[in-house]
Amino acid sequence: MKTFQTISGLRSALQPLRNEELSIGFVPTMGALHQGHLELMRRAKSENDILVVSIFVNPIQFNNPEDLEKYPRLPELDAHLLETVDCDFLFAPTVEEMYPEPDHSNYDFGVLGQVMEGAFRPGHFNGVAIVVRKLFEITEPNRAYFGEKDFQQLAIIQQLVKMLQLSVEIVPCPIVRESDGLAMSSRNMRLAKEERSVAPKIHQILKKAASLKNVLSPEEMRRYVWDKLSLEPAFSIDYVEVADDRMLQPVKHWNEVGGAVIFVALFLGQVRLIDNQRIF
Ligand code: PAF
Repeated sequence: MKTFQTISGLRSALQPLRNEELSIGFVPTMGALHQGHLELMRRAKSENDILVVSIFVNPIQFNNPEDLEKYPRLPELDAHLLETVDCDFLFAPTVEEMYPEPDHSNYDFGVLGQVMEGAFRPGHFNGVAIVVRKLFEITEPNRAYFGEKDFQQLAIIQQLVKMLQLSVEIVPCPIVRESDGLAMSSRNMRLAKEERSVAPKIHQILKKAASLKNVLSPEEMRRYVWDKLSLEPAFSIDYVEVADDRMLQPVKHWNEVGGAVIFVALFLGQVRLIDNQRIF
């Protein structure tokens, strides 16, 4: 694996490969890699000639300075894990390299950007869109891989690609879970032992709720999840939504949408977790 900190270094390494018409699979990350990331990478490696991974903790997507400061950074362990998936190129730029001056781009994702994470984390998706656009410009991948745990982020990136008419194919990948059901996330390593032991309840409650589709209306299902989560004193809920799987707007009647998903965001101690479960 070759590691680059500069845009020019990575570009000049990738150009000859592109000239040979080798395909590039790209997995953008913020590091603190886990099996969920590695699954994206294995898939990218199997579907492309070259695997490029970026590790960059993007400051402009953090609306909470403490979250940015506490975000786990484990460069040595990450480099080792990248070798295990046979990563070809790691791009690990500094903040100065990515933002020599502030990027004032302002993207409007309409209603998609106004709900859930968009409502609770002002500016977050604009920061994600700016960095992902830059990373796509730098790596020019044929395909880029994103996990469905960040379902709304994935929808935003798909919309960004349409808006900017980018030629990259976005490949959605299923959520990877721990054996007890907790969705894998770099933030999980910040959970205290007791917090970690209650965290799987999130998935258990979502799964149970989704199985009740034939007996609950969308609003009843939303309430059901909210009420069950509220029984756990360690959870402090940001939102629970039952939304359609395209524009992520609240569902009123099941027969009005082609697919629906339950979304949840909550704090467990100081750690903010999100998860989702497809209903149909
Ligand atoms: O999902 C993430 O890790 C980040 O939001 C991403 C896509 C790497 C952009 O910083």
